[in-house]
Amino acid sequence: MKVLVVGKGGREHALCWRLNQSPSVWGLYCASGSPGINQIAKPVDIAPADVAGLAKFARANSIDLTIVGPEDPLAAGIADEFERQGLRIFGPSKAAAQLEASKAFAKSVMREAGVPTANFEVFDDASAACRYVTSRKGPLVVKADGLALGKGVTVCADTESALRAIAEAMEERRFGTAGARLVIEERLTGEELSFFALADGVDAIPLGFVQDHKPVLDGDRGPNTGGMGAYAPVPRYGTAFETRVMNEVVRPTLKMMAARGTPFRGVLFAGLMVDGDAVNVLEFNVRFGDPECEPLMMRYEGDLAEALLAVAEGRARDAVVKLSARSAVSVVLTSGGYPGDYRKGLPISGLGRIDGAEPSELKVHWALDKIRVKVFHAGTAMRDGQLVTDGGRVLAVTALADSLEQAVATAYEAADMIEFEGKHMRRDVARRALGRDAARG
Ligand code: AMP
Ligand code: GLY
Repeated sequence: MKVLVVGKGGREHALCWRLNQSPSVWGLYCASGSPGINQIAKPVDIAPADVAGLAKFARANSIDLTIVGPEDPLAAGIADEFERQGLRIFGPSKAAAQLEASKAFAKSVMREAGVPTANFEVFDDASAACRYVTSRKGPLVVKADGLALGKGVTVCADTESALRAIAEAMEERRFGTAGARLVIEERLTGEELSFFALADGVDAIPLGFVQDHKPVLDGDRGPNTGGMGAYAPVPRYGTAFETRVMNEVVRPTLKMMAARGTPFRGVLFAGLMVDGDAVNVLEFNVRFGDPECEPLMMRYEGDLAEALLAVAEGRARDAVVKLSARSAVSVVLTSGGYPGDYRKGLPISGLGRIDGAEPSELKVHWALDKIRVKVFHAGTAMRDGQLVTDGGRVLAVTALADSLEQAVATAYEAADMIEFEGKHMRRDVARRALGRDAARG
């Protein structure tokens, strides 16, 4: 089949990389591509947000399946437009994408479906929101309802900071219209985990847990980013826990979405907070996570295109989904200054020793140990034949090995071989899980 991937980040590079190995795929296109993606897929110069342009391209080129990476085109209705034109697409309708595009919508679905989540109230009016936070005891979280590039959530230490967050969103319009409505909820504590399932509207297939690292600095310090590193599987959170999340979160949500007349098809990504025996949903996303997708794709075995096509056609039961039991770790290299201001266009060196033809002793060791290393491009560009930085997150250095420890060590060996001015990475990706393993002997 001919497949079009929409998006251009590390997540889409990982999807393209895995799709390129799908026996059923003989034509692979990506809108709009990247220096990494363009080595394996034909770049299509159409912006991911240009829904009409993408549909026109898919028709003209007889694309059999379009796979959407980011949330924006989904929230804009790309799946509805493709379906209207008889084009097959993997990703939810605009109505179902509200699970990510509106936090108030997601919380109301959770409440109705009995999915565990923090207690909350929704406000369209700043003074009512302020009255609410002053009347409450205990820490709160203030969330802009709409899509705010991951910046719309303020975890508040006290009433003062909650009032400030309300003013910023509703009066100063820091998040534009996304902050015109607010969800204010109880603050939860525990360990954050991402969970993924492929949903066909009725049935779902689990892809398991992945742990992301959002703060920019080691020890979860500093401001939140899109994600500084991820690994899977997550020790301790195995199949019994997965069954629980499928039964308590994924299935009731799908049932409620179908009952509302907006069945959910695509990847359901539940951001969870786990505290002992308690599991709560912090948020839903309607797409693969980035960087969570990178370790997931490293572990994915089998024909990804066939599986996603079956799910898109409402035949999840026909999809063969198998994940390797091996461990995958992705360490993200970022531009200095990210998530604040950063420079672009800085030359990147050292990739050839990992990916390309240049010899390296480590590569020989990795091959002997059957370790795979793959560097996914998150924000790079080509300038006069030189690979340069072109985003806050630049590369996702990913390794697959028999043990988590080996995968972590390898990902860092490879990450240290790459150089660019201002390069930053977290040094403690998966450290918590490694410590836990050691503690258990
Ligand atoms: P969200 O976009 O809703 O996942 O929120 C972004 C981040 O804010 C999450 O990854 C959590 O770290 C934090 N967060 C969101 N909701 C809560 C909550 N109810 N309690 C504590 N932290 C939260
Ligand atoms: N890594 C978190 C996200 O993709 O939203």
